[in-house]
Amino acid sequence: MKFFVDTADIADIKELADTGLLDGVTTNPSIIAKSGRDFREVTAEICGLVDGPVSAEVVALDHAGMMREAEILRKIADNVCIKVPLTIDGLKTCKKLTADGTMVNVTLCFSANQALLAAKAGATFVSPFIGRHDDNGFDGIDLISDIRLIYDNYAYETQILAASIRHGVHVLQCAKIGADVMTAPPAVIKGLFKHILTDKGIEGFMADWAKTGQSI
Ligand code: G3P
Repeated sequence: MKFFVDTADIADIKELADTGLLDGVTTNPSIIAKSGRDFREVTAEICGLVDGPVSAEVVALDHAGMMREAEILRKIADNVCIKVPLTIDGLKTCKKLTADGTMVNVTLCFSANQALLAAKAGATFVSPFIGRHDDNGFDGIDLISDIRLIYDNYAYETQILAASIRHGVHVLQCAKIGADVMTAPPAVIKGLFKHILTDKGIEGFMADWAKTGQSI
């Protein structure tokens, strides 16, 4: 499963990219606003930190406006992936951009039927929002499962990018179901490395090693 980080925080992206385990970055208008930076500048800086796709979202709601904004965004770097909302205009834009070879991430997906439409529009990625689905009394993981089944039935190449991930259990469940990608906040990804028994084990080994008086 590919790991994307859902942030525009440069320090966090650098730290995770240094592990060699980061496959891409996702942003959205709220994340860019939180960064307090110019969208062109921060997106260009992020694109220079990772080789993989960096999702940058349009804010226009109509097809013509989305195409105009996509032109600006895709000129920032070769690894920009244009993010469009799952609406009729968004999917029209997706169809047009992917026909040109541009990567597109169709976002704000909350049903398997919407994901089916995104695949038909040739999306590179579809982003079902697990956490927000759960928050509203639905099962976000069931949604990923349904999309996996449908995409496999028809061998759609659109990658399932599980988004709105809130904790490690979401990551585990996505991996078991076969989501292609998951995007999570930096803290969730960093949390995956941790286990109390790993820390305790290191502590014990270090204490015993010190007793030997040896060094490697
Ligand atoms: O970037 C899309 C998604 O990951 C947002 O997550 O936590 O704002 O629901 P969240």
